[in-house]
Amino acid sequence: MVSLPSSSVSPVNPSGADQRRGSLGWRNIRSVRIAQPSPATIEDAARLLLAGELVAFPTETVYGLGADATQGRAVAGIYEAKGRPHFNPLIAHVAGLAEAEAIAVFNEGARRLAAAFWPGGLTMVLAAREGSPVSSLVTAGLATIAVRVPSHPVALDLLRATGRPVAAPSANRSGHVSATTAAHVAADLGAEVALIIDSGPTAYGVESTILDMTGEAPRLLRPGAITAEDIERVTGSRPLGAVADPVSVPIAPGQLESHYAPAIPVRLDATSPREGEAFLAFGPYAPAYDGPLLNLSPRGDLREAAANLFAALRRLDRSGARGLAVMPIPERGLGVAINDRLRRAAAPRPTIPAATERA
Ligand code: TXA
Ligand code: MG
Repeated sequence: MVSLPSSSVSPVNPSGADQRRGSLGWRNIRSVRIAQPSPATIEDAARLLLAGELVAFPTETVYGLGADATQGRAVAGIYEAKGRPHFNPLIAHVAGLAEAEAIAVFNEGARRLAAAFWPGGLTMVLAAREGSPVSSLVTAGLATIAVRVPSHPVALDLLRATGRPVAAPSANRSGHVSATTAAHVAADLGAEVALIIDSGPTAYGVESTILDMTGEAPRLLRPGAITAEDIERVTGSRPLGAVADPVSVPIAPGQLESHYAPAIPVRLDATSPREGEAFLAFGPYAPAYDGPLLNLSPRGDLREAAANLFAALRRLDRSGARGLAVMPIPERGLGVAINDRLRRAAAPRPTIPAATERA
Protein backbone atom coordinates (compact mmCIF):
# COMPACT_ATOMS: atom_id res chain seq x y z
CA MET A 1 0.00 0.00 0.00
CA VAL A 2 1.20 3.49 -0.83
CA SER A 3 2.32 5.42 2.18
CA LEU A 4 1.82 9.15 2.14
CA PRO A 5 3.42 11.61 4.49
CA SER A 6 1.19 12.64 7.36
CA SER A 7 2.08 16.28 6.91
CA SER A 8 -0.29 18.77 5.28
CA VAL A 9 -0.52 18.65 1.49
CA SER A 10 0.96 21.99 0.60
CA PRO A 11 3.23 24.34 2.49
CA VAL A 12 1.68 27.13 4.49
CA ASN A 13 1.82 30.53 2.82
CA PRO A 14 5.26 31.78 3.87
CA SER A 15 4.27 35.46 3.79
CA GLY A 16 3.01 35.42 7.37
CA ALA A 17 0.02 37.50 6.27
CA ASP A 18 -2.36 35.08 7.89
CA GLN A 19 -0.83 35.46 11.31
CA ARG A 20 -1.49 39.15 11.14
CA ARG A 21 -5.02 38.49 10.00
CA GLY A 22 -5.67 36.04 12.78
CA SER A 23 -4.10 37.84 15.70
CA LEU A 24 -6.27 39.20 18.50
CA GLY A 25 -8.98 41.23 16.82
CA TRP A 26 -6.54 42.94 14.48
CA ARG A 27 -8.88 42.30 11.59
CA ASN A 28 -11.89 43.60 13.45
CA ILE A 29 -10.38 46.96 14.20
CA ARG A 30 -8.98 47.36 10.69
CA SER A 31 -10.84 50.22 9.04
CA VAL A 32 -12.03 49.95 5.46
CA ARG A 33 -9.33 51.03 3.02
CA ILE A 34 -10.76 52.41 -0.19
CA ALA A 35 -8.34 53.89 -2.75
CA GLN A 36 -8.75 55.58 -6.11
CA PRO A 37 -6.86 53.83 -8.91
CA SER A 38 -3.31 55.17 -9.44
CA PRO A 39 0.02 53.50 -10.18
CA ALA A 40 0.75 53.52 -6.42
CA THR A 41 -2.63 51.92 -5.63
CA ILE A 42 -2.09 49.20 -8.25
CA GLU A 43 1.39 48.48 -6.89
CA ASP A 44 0.04 48.31 -3.35
CA ALA A 45 -2.84 46.05 -4.39
CA ALA A 46 -0.51 43.66 -6.23
CA ARG A 47 1.77 43.50 -3.20
CA LEU A 48 -1.19 42.70 -0.94
CA LEU A 49 -2.40 39.93 -3.28
CA LEU A 50 1.07 38.38 -3.41
CA ALA A 51 1.16 38.51 0.41
CA GLY A 52 -2.01 36.36 0.48
CA GLU A 53 -4.47 39.19 1.26
CA LEU A 54 -7.85 39.86 -0.36
CA VAL A 55 -8.28 42.87 -2.65
CA ALA A 56 -11.58 44.04 -4.14
CA PHE A 57 -11.20 45.49 -7.63
CA PRO A 58 -13.46 46.77 -10.41
CA THR A 59 -14.13 44.83 -13.58
CA GLU A 60 -16.41 45.86 -16.45
CA THR A 61 -19.11 43.46 -15.13
CA VAL A 62 -19.12 43.62 -11.30
CA TYR A 63 -16.54 44.19 -8.55
CA GLY A 64 -14.40 41.13 -7.86
CA LEU A 65 -13.11 39.82 -4.53
CA GLY A 66 -9.60 38.83 -5.58
CA ALA A 67 -7.02 36.44 -4.17
CA ASP A 68 -3.79 35.07 -5.65
CA ALA A 69 -5.11 31.89 -7.34
CA THR A 70 -1.86 30.06 -6.66
CA GLN A 71 -2.15 30.39 -2.86
CA GLY A 72 -4.70 27.95 -1.44
CA ARG A 73 -4.94 29.75 1.89
CA ALA A 74 -5.62 33.07 0.18
CA VAL A 75 -8.35 31.43 -1.92
CA ALA A 76 -9.83 29.88 1.24
CA GLY A 77 -9.99 33.45 2.57
CA ILE A 78 -12.45 34.30 -0.23
CA TYR A 79 -14.91 31.69 1.04
CA GLU A 80 -14.37 32.81 4.61
CA ALA A 81 -14.98 36.46 3.74
CA LYS A 82 -18.08 35.76 1.65
CA GLY A 83 -19.47 33.42 4.29
CA ARG A 84 -20.22 30.88 1.55
CA PRO A 85 -21.56 27.65 3.03
CA HIS A 86 -20.18 25.60 0.12
CA PHE A 87 -17.28 25.54 -2.29
CA ASN A 88 -18.16 26.62 -5.80
CA PRO A 89 -15.41 26.80 -8.44
CA LEU A 90 -14.09 30.32 -9.04
CA ILE A 91 -13.09 32.21 -12.18
CA ALA A 92 -9.34 32.69 -12.71
CA HIS A 93 -8.74 36.19 -14.06
CA VAL A 94 -5.64 36.71 -16.20
CA ALA A 95 -4.04 39.57 -18.15
CA GLY A 96 -4.15 37.98 -21.61
CA LEU A 97 -4.38 34.90 -23.81
CA ALA A 98 -0.81 33.78 -23.12
CA GLU A 99 -1.47 33.83 -19.37
CA ALA A 100 -4.76 31.98 -19.93
CA GLU A 101 -3.01 29.29 -22.00
CA ALA A 102 -0.59 28.73 -19.12
CA ILE A 103 -3.43 27.49 -16.90
CA ALA A 104 -6.00 26.13 -19.39
CA VAL A 105 -5.92 24.02 -22.55
CA PHE A 106 -7.41 25.90 -25.52
CA ASN A 107 -9.04 24.42 -28.58
CA GLU A 108 -9.64 26.21 -31.90
CA GLY A 109 -13.14 27.31 -30.91
CA ALA A 110 -11.91 28.77 -27.63
CA ARG A 111 -9.15 30.71 -29.42
CA ARG A 112 -11.65 32.16 -31.85
CA LEU A 113 -13.91 33.31 -29.00
CA ALA A 114 -10.93 34.73 -27.11
CA ALA A 115 -9.92 36.72 -30.20
CA ALA A 116 -13.46 38.09 -30.51
CA PHE A 117 -14.35 38.82 -26.86
CA TRP A 118 -11.18 39.17 -24.81
CA PRO A 119 -10.55 41.31 -23.00
CA GLY A 120 -14.22 41.35 -22.00
CA GLY A 121 -17.22 39.81 -20.32
CA LEU A 122 -16.79 36.22 -21.49
CA THR A 123 -15.64 33.41 -19.18
CA MET A 124 -14.66 30.12 -20.78
CA VAL A 125 -14.59 26.76 -19.00
CA LEU A 126 -11.71 24.72 -20.41
CA ALA A 127 -9.62 21.71 -19.43
CA ALA A 128 -7.26 22.78 -16.65
CA ARG A 129 -3.61 22.54 -17.65
CA GLU A 130 -1.77 19.73 -15.83
CA GLY A 131 0.84 21.02 -13.42
CA SER A 132 -0.43 24.61 -13.45
CA PRO A 133 0.24 26.44 -10.17
CA VAL A 134 -3.46 27.25 -9.63
CA SER A 135 -4.77 25.93 -6.29
CA SER A 136 -7.27 23.06 -6.55
CA LEU A 137 -9.56 25.12 -4.32
CA VAL A 138 -10.08 27.51 -7.28
CA THR A 139 -11.48 24.69 -9.43
CA ALA A 140 -13.07 22.94 -6.41
CA GLY A 141 -11.18 19.84 -7.48
CA LEU A 142 -12.58 19.78 -11.04
CA ALA A 143 -10.42 18.93 -14.04
CA THR A 144 -11.75 22.06 -15.75
CA ILE A 145 -11.05 25.73 -15.05
CA ALA A 146 -13.03 28.91 -15.74
CA VAL A 147 -10.83 31.69 -17.20
CA ARG A 148 -11.47 35.26 -18.19
CA VAL A 149 -9.52 38.32 -19.31
CA PRO A 150 -11.46 41.36 -18.01
CA SER A 151 -11.46 44.56 -20.07
CA HIS A 152 -11.52 47.08 -17.21
CA PRO A 153 -8.19 48.95 -17.37
CA VAL A 154 -7.78 48.86 -13.58
CA ALA A 155 -8.36 45.09 -13.51
CA LEU A 156 -5.89 44.59 -16.36
CA ASP A 157 -3.25 46.80 -14.70
CA LEU A 158 -3.69 44.87 -11.45
CA LEU A 159 -3.39 41.49 -13.19
CA ARG A 160 -0.23 42.61 -15.01
CA ALA A 161 1.29 43.98 -11.81
CA THR A 162 0.46 40.81 -9.88
CA GLY A 163 1.78 38.52 -12.60
CA ARG A 164 -0.37 35.65 -11.28
CA PRO A 165 -3.88 34.42 -12.04
CA VAL A 166 -6.34 36.06 -9.63
CA ALA A 167 -9.37 34.09 -8.43
CA ALA A 168 -12.33 36.43 -7.99
CA PRO A 169 -16.01 35.88 -7.38
CA SER A 170 -18.32 38.87 -7.17
CA ALA A 171 -17.39 41.01 -4.14
CA ASN A 172 -20.54 40.52 -2.07
CA ARG A 173 -21.46 38.36 0.88
CA SER A 174 -23.06 35.03 0.03
CA GLY A 175 -26.75 35.46 -0.74
CA HIS A 176 -26.46 39.20 -1.47
CA VAL A 177 -26.58 40.72 -4.95
CA SER A 178 -23.32 41.23 -6.84
CA ALA A 179 -21.51 44.44 -5.92
CA THR A 180 -21.41 47.07 -8.65
CA THR A 181 -19.92 49.94 -6.63
CA ALA A 182 -17.10 50.23 -4.09
CA ALA A 183 -19.68 51.29 -1.49
CA HIS A 184 -21.52 47.95 -1.96
CA VAL A 185 -18.24 46.13 -1.44
CA ALA A 186 -17.43 48.17 1.66
CA ALA A 187 -20.89 47.51 3.14
CA ASP A 188 -20.61 43.74 2.58
CA LEU A 189 -16.92 42.98 2.96
CA GLY A 190 -15.22 46.10 4.30
CA ALA A 191 -13.76 44.33 7.32
CA GLU A 192 -12.59 41.33 5.28
CA VAL A 193 -10.56 42.95 2.52
CA ALA A 194 -7.17 44.63 2.78
CA LEU A 195 -8.07 47.15 0.09
CA ILE A 196 -10.96 48.18 -2.16
CA ILE A 197 -10.04 49.89 -5.42
CA ASP A 198 -12.83 52.37 -6.22
CA SER A 199 -13.37 53.05 -9.88
CA GLY A 200 -17.02 54.09 -9.77
CA PRO A 201 -20.01 52.00 -10.86
CA THR A 202 -19.26 49.05 -13.15
CA ALA A 203 -20.28 49.34 -16.82
CA TYR A 204 -22.41 46.19 -17.23
CA GLY A 205 -23.68 45.52 -13.72
CA VAL A 206 -24.22 41.84 -14.60
CA GLU A 207 -21.66 39.05 -14.41
CA SER A 208 -19.71 37.64 -17.33
CA THR A 209 -21.27 35.07 -19.64
CA ILE A 210 -19.95 31.58 -18.89
CA LEU A 211 -19.44 29.19 -21.80
CA ASP A 212 -18.38 25.59 -21.33
CA MET A 213 -15.93 24.91 -24.16
CA THR A 214 -14.94 21.39 -23.13
CA GLY A 215 -17.52 19.60 -25.29
CA GLU A 216 -18.20 19.32 -29.02
CA ALA A 217 -20.09 22.62 -29.07
CA PRO A 218 -20.11 25.67 -26.76
CA ARG A 219 -22.59 25.33 -23.92
CA LEU A 220 -24.00 28.34 -22.08
CA LEU A 221 -23.59 27.82 -18.32
CA ARG A 222 -24.56 31.36 -17.28
CA PRO A 223 -26.05 34.15 -19.38
CA GLY A 224 -24.30 37.48 -18.81
CA ALA A 225 -22.56 40.45 -20.36
CA ILE A 226 -21.96 38.82 -23.77
CA THR A 227 -25.22 37.68 -25.39
CA ALA A 228 -25.96 34.39 -27.14
CA GLU A 229 -26.39 36.44 -30.35
CA ASP A 230 -22.90 37.93 -29.92
CA ILE A 231 -21.53 34.40 -29.60
CA GLU A 232 -23.52 33.12 -32.57
CA ARG A 233 -21.99 35.83 -34.75
CA VAL A 234 -18.54 34.34 -34.08
CA THR A 235 -19.28 30.61 -33.94
CA GLY A 236 -22.08 30.48 -36.52
CA SER A 237 -24.52 28.80 -34.14
CA ARG A 238 -26.32 29.42 -30.87
CA PRO A 239 -24.58 27.99 -27.82
CA LEU A 240 -26.35 24.96 -26.37
CA GLY A 241 -28.27 25.35 -23.13
CA ALA A 242 -26.90 24.09 -19.83
CA VAL A 243 -27.49 20.42 -19.05
CA ALA A 244 -28.92 19.47 -15.70
CA ASP A 245 -26.24 17.79 -13.66
CA PRO A 246 -27.41 14.73 -11.71
CA VAL A 247 -24.66 14.96 -9.09
CA SER A 248 -25.18 18.54 -8.03
CA VAL A 249 -27.94 20.92 -7.15
CA PRO A 250 -27.82 24.22 -9.07
CA ILE A 251 -26.19 26.88 -6.90
CA ALA A 252 -28.35 29.60 -8.45
CA PRO A 253 -30.55 29.70 -11.53
CA GLY A 254 -28.40 29.25 -14.59
CA GLN A 255 -25.37 28.21 -12.61
CA LEU A 256 -24.72 24.52 -13.02
CA GLU A 257 -21.54 22.69 -12.32
CA SER A 258 -20.10 19.27 -11.78
CA HIS A 259 -18.66 18.43 -8.43
CA TYR A 260 -15.53 16.52 -7.80
CA ALA A 261 -16.10 13.51 -5.54
CA PRO A 262 -13.78 10.57 -4.84
CA ALA A 263 -14.51 7.27 -6.59
CA ILE A 264 -13.96 5.22 -3.39
CA PRO A 265 -16.63 5.15 -0.65
CA VAL A 266 -16.31 7.89 1.95
CA ARG A 267 -17.01 7.30 5.67
CA LEU A 268 -17.46 10.47 7.76
CA ASP A 269 -16.85 11.18 11.47
CA ALA A 270 -14.29 8.38 11.70
CA THR A 271 -12.13 8.53 14.81
CA SER A 272 -9.72 5.99 13.32
CA PRO A 273 -9.30 4.18 9.99
CA ARG A 274 -10.34 0.57 9.41
CA GLU A 275 -8.20 -2.02 7.66
CA GLY A 276 -7.67 -1.07 4.00
CA GLU A 277 -9.01 2.47 4.29
CA ALA A 278 -7.18 5.69 3.53
CA PHE A 279 -7.45 8.24 6.35
CA LEU A 280 -8.13 11.96 6.00
CA ALA A 281 -7.20 13.49 9.33
CA PHE A 282 -7.64 16.94 10.85
CA GLY A 283 -5.97 18.55 13.82
CA PRO A 284 -3.29 17.62 16.33
CA TYR A 285 -5.03 14.52 17.74
CA ALA A 286 -4.97 12.37 14.61
CA PRO A 287 -4.20 8.73 15.47
CA ALA A 288 -1.03 7.22 14.02
CA TYR A 289 -1.64 5.04 10.95
CA ASP A 290 0.73 3.30 8.58
CA GLY A 291 -1.74 3.20 5.68
CA PRO A 292 -2.35 6.18 3.36
CA LEU A 293 -2.84 9.21 5.61
CA LEU A 294 -3.05 12.94 5.01
CA ASN A 295 -3.77 15.60 7.62
CA LEU A 296 -5.72 18.59 6.27
CA SER A 297 -4.20 20.77 8.98
CA PRO A 298 -2.11 19.26 11.78
CA ARG A 299 -2.54 22.49 13.77
CA GLY A 300 -6.32 22.44 13.34
CA ASP A 301 -6.57 25.53 11.14
CA LEU A 302 -9.74 25.47 9.02
CA ARG A 303 -8.37 27.80 6.38
CA GLU A 304 -5.37 25.58 5.82
CA ALA A 305 -7.72 22.57 5.77
CA ALA A 306 -9.89 24.20 3.07
CA ALA A 307 -6.80 25.00 1.01
CA ASN A 308 -5.70 21.35 1.17
CA LEU A 309 -9.08 19.64 0.82
CA PHE A 310 -9.36 18.85 -2.91
CA ALA A 311 -5.72 17.90 -3.43
CA ALA A 312 -5.93 15.58 -0.41
CA LEU A 313 -9.15 13.95 -1.64
CA ARG A 314 -7.58 13.28 -5.04
CA ARG A 315 -4.38 11.84 -3.62
CA LEU A 316 -6.15 9.53 -1.20
CA ASP A 317 -8.65 8.50 -3.89
CA ARG A 318 -5.69 7.33 -5.98
CA SER A 319 -3.83 5.67 -3.10
CA GLY A 320 -5.20 2.20 -3.79
CA ALA A 321 -7.30 2.15 -0.60
CA ARG A 322 -10.76 0.54 -0.68
CA GLY A 323 -12.41 3.43 1.12
CA LEU A 324 -11.76 6.80 2.69
CA ALA A 325 -12.32 7.47 6.38
CA VAL A 326 -12.58 11.15 7.37
CA MET A 327 -12.05 12.55 10.86
CA PRO A 328 -14.72 14.94 12.21
CA ILE A 329 -14.22 18.56 11.10
CA PRO A 330 -15.66 21.31 13.34
CA GLU A 331 -18.91 22.76 11.94
CA ARG A 332 -17.87 26.40 12.17
CA GLY A 333 -16.31 28.97 9.84
CA LEU A 334 -14.85 27.27 6.77
CA GLY A 335 -15.65 23.91 8.41
CA VAL A 336 -19.24 24.35 7.18
CA ALA A 337 -18.15 24.41 3.52
CA ILE A 338 -15.64 21.59 4.08
CA ASN A 339 -18.32 19.41 5.68
CA ASP A 340 -20.80 20.27 2.91
CA ARG A 341 -18.34 18.93 0.34
CA LEU A 342 -17.46 15.87 2.41
CA ARG A 343 -21.15 15.04 2.92
CA ARG A 344 -21.75 15.24 -0.83
CA ALA A 345 -18.74 12.97 -1.34
CA ALA A 346 -20.15 10.47 1.17
CA ALA A 347 -23.72 10.52 -0.18
CA PRO A 348 -24.85 7.67 -2.46
CA ARG A 349 -24.44 8.86 -6.04
CA PRO A 350 -26.39 8.03 -9.19
CA THR A 351 -24.28 6.81 -12.12
CA ILE A 352 -22.93 9.85 -13.92
CA PRO A 353 -23.53 9.97 -17.69
CA ALA A 354 -20.14 10.29 -19.42
CA ALA A 355 -21.13 13.54 -21.15
CA THR A 356 -21.47 15.45 -17.89
CA GLU A 357 -18.59 13.87 -16.01
CA ARG A 358 -15.84 16.41 -15.72
CA ALA A 359 -14.05 15.49 -12.54
O1 TXA B 1 -18.35 38.87 -14.09
C1 TXA B 1 -17.90 37.93 -13.45
O2 TXA B 1 -17.76 36.80 -13.93
C2 TXA B 1 -17.47 38.20 -12.00
C3 TXA B 1 -16.27 39.16 -12.07
C4 TXA B 1 -15.67 39.41 -10.72
O3 TXA B 1 -15.29 38.65 -12.96
N1 TXA B 1 -17.14 36.98 -11.32
C5 TXA B 1 -18.10 36.08 -10.94
O4 TXA B 1 -17.62 34.98 -10.26
O5 TXA B 1 -19.28 36.21 -11.20
P1 TXA B 1 -18.55 33.99 -9.41
O6 TXA B 1 -17.61 33.18 -8.55
O7 TXA B 1 -19.62 34.74 -8.70
O8 TXA B 1 -19.18 33.04 -10.47
C6 TXA B 1 -18.38 32.05 -11.08
C7 TXA B 1 -19.26 31.00 -11.67
C8 TXA B 1 -19.83 30.07 -10.61
O9 TXA B 1 -21.22 30.03 -10.70
C9 TXA B 1 -19.24 28.72 -10.94
O10 TXA B 1 -20.18 27.70 -10.80
C10 TXA B 1 -18.79 28.86 -12.38
O11 TXA B 1 -18.45 30.20 -12.51
N2 TXA B 1 -17.60 28.06 -12.63
C11 TXA B 1 -16.34 28.31 -12.25
N3 TXA B 1 -15.50 27.31 -12.62
C12 TXA B 1 -16.25 26.42 -13.27
C13 TXA B 1 -15.97 25.16 -13.88
N4 TXA B 1 -14.74 24.65 -13.90
N5 TXA B 1 -17.00 24.50 -14.45
C14 TXA B 1 -18.25 25.02 -14.43
N6 TXA B 1 -18.57 26.20 -13.87
C15 TXA B 1 -17.60 26.88 -13.28
MG1 MG C 1 -21.51 35.79 -7.55
